[in-house]
Amino acid sequence: MLIKKSPDIRESEVTDYSTYLSRRDFIKTGIGLSLAGLGISSNAYAKVYKLGDEEATSYKNITTYNNFYEFGTSKEAPAENAHTLKTSPWSVTINGECEKAGTYTLEDILKPHDIEEHIYRFRCVEGWSMIIPWQGFKLGDLIKRFKPTSKAKYVQFETLYDPKQMPGQRRDVLDWPYVEGLRMDEAMNSLTLLATGLYGKDLPNQNGAPLRLVVPWKYGFKNIKSIVRISFVEKQPISAWMKAAPNEYGFYSNVNPNVPHPRWSQKRERRIGELLKRDTLMFNGYTEQVASMYQGMDLKKFF
Ligand code: MTE
Repeated sequence: MLIKKSPDIRESEVTDYSTYLSRRDFIKTGIGLSLAGLGISSNAYAKVYKLGDEEATSYKNITTYNNFYEFGTSKEAPAENAHTLKTSPWSVTINGECEKAGTYTLEDILKPHDIEEHIYRFRCVEGWSMIIPWQGFKLGDLIKRFKPTSKAKYVQFETLYDPKQMPGQRRDVLDWPYVEGLRMDEAMNSLTLLATGLYGKDLPNQNGAPLRLVVPWKYGFKNIKSIVRISFVEKQPISAWMKAAPNEYGFYSNVNPNVPHPRWSQKRERRIGELLKRDTLMFNGYTEQVASMYQGMDLKKFF
């Protein structure tokens, strides 16, 4: 798998782990610690992933503190239960308003795309956040391949529906399957990814293997996991969360500290792994790349 460095990561932000350790004076102090002695395996943590001067959230936290209601509603349940999901073979149906509709194997979906690395902020509507080093490719590049027609105004995504593999679907927590959607310009924005991995490894099941959406300026629930269908549609899709609580979850769900959730403020957030809360940034810090898409829109109305 080819991993291309993305233009949004400066060389200085990806540091060799050994360089990083020596910078921290662990090795120079002469205690004689080796990487192995520190229990650091060269694969998973070969690099220190940073966004600006912030280090990425630990692999452990990203993969054990999850929301994936198909495997239970606690934060621990997905990591405990998602091993029952069979991600190979996997196929994705592309349909609706496009010229190349069909059902494709995951291999065919992935084949033409170079896998890039993108380190993004991730903000859940519940008020917690992470920094995640994703591997994936731009959704826009996939969309172009399937030639949407002029009627395609939105893209709708669906998660696998299989209560045998996904025990949470045996309960009516949501109207399964999980559905999400984006406006076409949001889907084509160069920040929007289809992720296949994180921390340089394949996506763990609990994080949405084998293919999930990543839209870093929106609340986490837009980032639909384990996708089996991508549909080009004329009308705005109704997402699983809009269906469940339309006054709480809107279609856009852009991170916005000035628009509270009906039951809690969105002004601050807790970065997982930190104690003190920090201010939430407009569009999760991606204003420059995305604000123009919402010019003239009342973001309180279109929440
Ligand atoms: N996708 C599916 N299919 N089912 C889910 O329950 N939860 C969403 C989103 N995607 C969810 C989903 C929510 S609420 C969040 S915050 C993120 O996934 C969590 O992603 P993570 O567990 O990788 O941090």
